[in-house]
Amino acid sequence: MGSCLPVEAEPRLQMWPDNIDDCSLPRQMGRSPLSNPVDLFHSEPVVKICAPMVRYSKLSFRTLVRKYDCDLCYTPMIIAADFVRSLKARHSEFTTNQGDHPLIVQFAAKEAQVLADAAGLVSPFADGVDLNCGCPQRWAMAEGYGACLINKPQLIQEMVRSVRNQVENPTFSVSIKIRIHEDLKRTVDLCQKAESAGVSWISVHGRSVEERHQPVHYDAIKTIKDSISIPVVANGDVKSLKDVEAIHQRTGADGAMTYQWSVVAAFLYGEIALLLLLCLPLVSPVRWNKIFMISVWNRIASYWNKTFLTIIVILIVLFLDAVREVRKYSTVQLNEDNPHSTHSAIDHIHMKLFRSQRNLYISGFSLFLWLVLRRLVSLITILANEMETENILKIEVANSNEVARKCLEENEKLQMSLKEMKHSTGEHLCLVTNEKLTVEVEQLKTALKATSEALLKTRNEIITARKHSEELKKEYDLLVKEHEKLQQQTGASSKKDL
Ligand SMILES: Cc1cc2nc3c(=O)[nH]c(=O)nc-3n(C[C@H](O)[C@H](O)[C@H](O)COP(=O)(O)O)c2cc1C
Repeated sequence: MGSCLPVEAEPRLQMWPDNIDDCSLPRQMGRSPLSNPVDLFHSEPVVKICAPMVRYSKLSFRTLVRKYDCDLCYTPMIIAADFVRSLKARHSEFTTNQGDHPLIVQFAAKEAQVLADAAGLVSPFADGVDLNCGCPQRWAMAEGYGACLINKPQLIQEMVRSVRNQVENPTFSVSIKIRIHEDLKRTVDLCQKAESAGVSWISVHGRSVEERHQPVHYDAIKTIKDSISIPVVANGDVKSLKDVEAIHQRTGADGAMTYQWSVVAAFLYGEIALLLLLCLPLVSPVRWNKIFMISVWNRIASYWNKTFLTIIVILIVLFLDAVREVRKYSTVQLNEDNPHSTHSAIDHIHMKLFRSQRNLYISGFSLFLWLVLRRLVSLITILANEMETENILKIEVANSNEVARKCLEENEKLQMSLKEMKHSTGEHLCLVTNEKLTVEVEQLKTALKATSEALLKTRNEIITARKHSEELKKEYDLLVKEHEKLQQQTGASSKKDL
């Protein structure tokens, strides 16, 4: 960072109508009214800015870069106190012309009133002032200028408010250019305080005061961008337009968001088109099912679930991000009565709120339709299967009906023939059979009776035979006894003879 040229002191504050470049017309001499520089941040996805550079960013340099698509130019840092005090300083430090627009005059200041006076002096010729809170040079820090101001948020607030009060033009911007703290929370706090004081935008050189050529902390710029609602300008290591785009994406600036939400919006339109296609009665569910069943889907089926879940997760993250944004800008909107908030800042917040609400709807509907699409595809598949089953059942029912009809016919035929048979032989046969059976029963009865009688007779005979046997036994016993007697008698007579 370059140093500032010392200027000689002047006792009185005075205007310097002759310090405007010869070939230019000062604004009060018919120059077209300057528009609000904050509008640039709303109209362009990426605002290309030529940073303040001591000794370089003078009128001729600015004229040159403006020819190469530069949207906004800064003057080199000018010490506000010298500028206010010295006409000579004003002559040597500030020159402009009609084409030098939009233009921001950067000041090094440490007192609110001095900065306000300097802003008042340049306000007819420039579009805004910027307070240097990033110069790390030892002499500047020792004087209380530049980067030492990042440790004095209240003083920055005071200076911003003083300029706002001093300059009548409501579109005149008041911005600050800072470096980051080692502890990023302090930078976020500083930026939020500056925002509440009514600062138009904040340029963040993504290095700490001690860092010189170290890599820029773009993540820190993104954190700052996410914590405030006003525009944030990323600064440091921007060497080409490609760098601009890459840094723009990395720090989450508006342009990058636009691409991201454009993709989500395209996805949403795709979903709607697909839903219409699936719902219109042009293609039957069975045909859709055939389309779902083609081999290409089978091949990607293994990735399908993962893809489905990944898209759901992405949409949920985007949805939550949009909710966060809406909440953020809704809260800021409540501070609309803040006397230090400019119209353009309020417009900017309204725009941001509108965009975040739009993003909320886009992501919410995309998520909802994504789930609906999956359900619809499942339902179409089920419906197609059901329709096919129904067709098969219809065919089976028709076949069954045919079989039943044939059975009925055959049954009728049989009944007819049975009736005919009954008429001819059926009754006679029955009679003959009955008679035969009756005869057989009678015969059996007779046989049974005869057998019973024979049985009874045999039983009686057995009883008679048993009686005879007992009588015979008795007679035999008597005969045995008589025989014994006779033998005894015979024996006794023989003995006598002897
Ligand atoms: C020669 C020179 C002069 C500079 N003068 C100023 C200045 O007057 N005010 C200021 O805020 N930054 C000044 N800077 C810092 C730049 O605006 C910018 O923040 C810095 O160059 C970004 O870092 P980089 O060079 O690594 O891209 C100056 C830088 C250089 C190289």
